[in-house]
Amino acid sequence: MDYTWTAARLAFLYLHFHTWLSGHCHLYNNRYAGDKVFRIVPKNDIEAKELKNIYHNLQVDLWQPSSHSYIGKDTVTDVHTSNKTSQALLTYLRQSNIQYKILVNDLQKILEKQNVSRTQRNRRSLSKYNYEEYHSLGEIENWMHHLNKTQSHLVYMFSVGKSYEGRPLYVLKLGANNIVKKKAIWIDCGIHAREWIGPVFCQWFVREALNTYNRDSSMRKILNLLNIYVMPVLNVDGYHFSWTTDRFWRKTRSKNRFNCYGVDANRNWKVKWGEEGASSHPCDSTYCGPYAESEPEVQAVSRFIYKQRKHIKAYLSIHSYAQMLLYPYSYQYDTIPNYHCVASAASNAVHAMRSAYGVRYQHGPASSTLYLSSGSSIDWAYNTGIPYSFAFELRDTGYYGFLLPESLIKPTCTETTIAVKNIAMHILKKCR
Ligand SMILES: *[C@@H]1O[C@H](CO)[C@@H](O)[C@H](O)[C@H]1NC(C)=O
Ligand SMILES: *[C@@H]1O[C@H](CO)[C@@H](O)[C@H](O)[C@H]1NC(C)=O
Ligand SMILES: *[C@@H]1O[C@H](CO)[C@@H](O)[C@H](O)[C@H]1NC(C)=O
Ligand SMILES: [Zn+2]
Repeated sequence: MDYTWTAARLAFLYLHFHTWLSGHCHLYNNRYAGDKVFRIVPKNDIEAKELKNIYHNLQVDLWQPSSHSYIGKDTVTDVHTSNKTSQALLTYLRQSNIQYKILVNDLQKILEKQNVSRTQRNRRSLSKYNYEEYHSLGEIENWMHHLNKTQSHLVYMFSVGKSYEGRPLYVLKLGANNIVKKKAIWIDCGIHAREWIGPVFCQWFVREALNTYNRDSSMRKILNLLNIYVMPVLNVDGYHFSWTTDRFWRKTRSKNRFNCYGVDANRNWKVKWGEEGASSHPCDSTYCGPYAESEPEVQAVSRFIYKQRKHIKAYLSIHSYAQMLLYPYSYQYDTIPNYHCVASAASNAVHAMRSAYGVRYQHGPASSTLYLSSGSSIDWAYNTGIPYSFAFELRDTGYYGFLLPESLIKPTCTETTIAVKNIAMHILKKCR
């Protein structure tokens, strides 16, 4: 699959020319200059309550957890603030004698540094498609079209609908066309725009599948017996926006009341929609939307999966960051009927994953392992009859957070591929 990446080279030259012409050389218009990321862990319920309030009042960008409503005693909270807001937060923390750590002192500097090292690496390897870097939506779409043309014995590319802004919602179907009624696995990446490790994992997995089909017996078995649907970017509008305008955008880009934009595409599914663990306020980052499946992206994907529900045996959704492998329920603490099978699949996958780099993942029901949330895709998939439904929260646990450097793409994607293959082999065995 090595080929000259002419389009990328042209885009690269154009960008440099453009930067030179317009005279500004800061990413995202320098909007993150002096922005900080704090880590604060409330020691008791009183601190937790105070933090919730202050986060809400200061309108900070919460990296972890995704909403202030999830904060309780001992919750690790990573908060991104503007330079100005950081002063107010610091004053408050000192007054209340709450302990904090500054994880990032100037977010803009980190973004620029990562972009420079990327540009340098790009110069060296421009002739080969680079799977160890983040790609823009346009680059990912070109890559998909290319595979559809050159790998048609194992790849078929199609669209399940259109996004709010009118972009096609592309999916790759991987698998040998040897038998008619095949079981299937669905994998989506990029439900949340800023979690860039997701889309790059989807690309990595596709490459691994295609490259090892001939020499790895388990991959050959997987692709012979199963179809794997891979959707590299579910929230295409949000992902694009995170490249052009706001690196830390999470939601879709639909316009709603109060002049706020976007719905949390992982709170918008038709399962206990709008209940606990989702916000009904359009400006919040966990806004569930005006009604279930209000987002065209969610509606398109759920329609496709619903039609294929008899074949699809596993639904996987790739997120970051936390290092967890989660399964239903998200919306309640009850255990699922086939808990035994699912929990053992998760435990095996996490164990296999650790063999690569020794990195540990927690695993368990999303509700008790992470937090309660309603309208999530894994609960919806599970309730639709898909017996294995998982959400991965990839690396790391907050050192880089959403800004996972490109040097960690390879280890992160390698171990995650092992986990996904492990789950695929599991569903070929009898355990329901
Ligand atoms: C951040 O704010 C401080 C205090 O107001 C100021 O001295 C500093 O220059 C600001 N940093 C940036 C990068 O804007
Ligand atoms: C970073 O630099 C590259 C050029 O190497 C450019 O293509 C890309 O759009 C830049 N921005 C981001 C957000 O990565
Ligand atoms: C993928 O290739 C097939 C032909 O092999 C074509 O019919 C189909 O339209 C292509 N998909 C897309 C999205 O272009
Ligand atoms: Zn996410």
